[in-house]
Amino acid sequence: MSRLAARHILLGITGGIAAYKCCELVRQLRREGAEVQVLMTPAAAAFVTPLSLQAVSGRPVRTDLLDPSAEAAMGHIELARWGEVLLVAPASADALARLAQGHANDLLSTCYLAFDGPKFLAPAMNQAMWRAPATGRNVAQLEADGATVLGPASGSQACGDEGPGRMIEPADLVQALEAWASARGDSSPSPWAGRHVVITAGPTREALDPVRYLTNKSSGQQGFALAEAAVAAGARVTLITGPVSLPTPAGVTRIDVEAAQDMLTAAEAACADADLCVAVAAVADYRVAEVATQKLKRQDGVPLTLTLVPNPDIIATLAAQRGSRARPVLVAFAAETENVLAHARSKRSKKGVDFVVANDVSRADIGFNSEENCVTVLGPSGETALPKMSKRALSTQLLQEFASALTP
Ligand code: PMT
Repeated sequence: MSRLAARHILLGITGGIAAYKCCELVRQLRREGAEVQVLMTPAAAAFVTPLSLQAVSGRPVRTDLLDPSAEAAMGHIELARWGEVLLVAPASADALARLAQGHANDLLSTCYLAFDGPKFLAPAMNQAMWRAPATGRNVAQLEADGATVLGPASGSQACGDEGPGRMIEPADLVQALEAWASARGDSSPSPWAGRHVVITAGPTREALDPVRYLTNKSSGQQGFALAEAAVAAGARVTLITGPVSLPTPAGVTRIDVEAAQDMLTAAEAACADADLCVAVAAVADYRVAEVATQKLKRQDGVPLTLTLVPNPDIIATLAAQRGSRARPVLVAFAAETENVLAHARSKRSKKGVDFVVANDVSRADIGFNSEENCVTVLGPSGETALPKMSKRALSTQLLQEFASALTP
């Protein structure tokens, strides 16, 4: 297993001809199992297209600081938190100057400033620009601030000059990052590498007649964020989702369902070889006893009475089928509006699951259809209250909690 497996690498690409080598760099990092999030300056996008880098990285490339849709998905601060290491390659003379000064007026400089992990810079520029005293001062400042400068190499340059200023080769950059990973003394692979994670997400839809149904407010965001985090951690992920309007995260196998009964069938099949199953879905507890075959007609003054029957409890069924076996680790979410912890504790024992993630869905700022969540995790070794954070950041923390229950 590579030391870079499941590592989160932020790759900042600035404007320079060496930017074309970044597709190969990303390809090599991905081959080592790393997750690479590319950030590009507008000048970089003139040398190599964001689309090419998206194709090789498997993640949308980020270019703008003030892109409302991208900021909603993963804001610049969140990007900085996501990364474990930040590599700027190629780092142009202008980028070195701006980073040395602490500028924060584009996405890359903002992330660089906000990122407090290890930073690597691979300069690339004309040899005279590299030798210029101003560049020397900027490099010295960046090194004094803790960055590691890789290269540049010497040789013939795109402009026809000969001398120092070539970006070092992708293989050498990969080697430098591998050395960083080894130096951390943390050569253990992600506990999720090669594991199968099954997640249910979104609402279910229980038909009343051909055009009407019972459902709830779940947007699917929490389940999809967990799926994305599990892929980033190296897992194979099956996401079973009710009707939502979210794109499928890269690398995830998605199964679309409507009713609770269909979700149960899909979950039973997927869990046959699963290591973890997390029931994030807001499953309808009831369905109508009989779905009308024709549209129900309104009758003035006559109340409509629906007979509801209980749906199967999906996660409790999976727990019963698991019996005394250790796999899969089972997790339920508890959506509560009062006595959150008391209800969550009782759900954990009633459903026979290893963990319950309790959230207060009476709050508008967390839980249903919001970007953030605030939960308490109830597990075999106690209860952990986590602060409010984005659903994506929370998902990474949840996986760390659940990993404690994995069997070798
Ligand atoms: O989708 P979002 O908008 O991002 O919102 C996220 C969320 C609020 C839906 C999520 O954080 C959450 O709380 N999910 C659980 C919702 C729920 O139905 O909770 P519950 O307390 O009613 O159910 C407890 C557990 O049993 C859940 O894991 C649920 O998936 C499971 N269940 C419930 C009923 C049923 N018939 N089968 C089940 O498996």
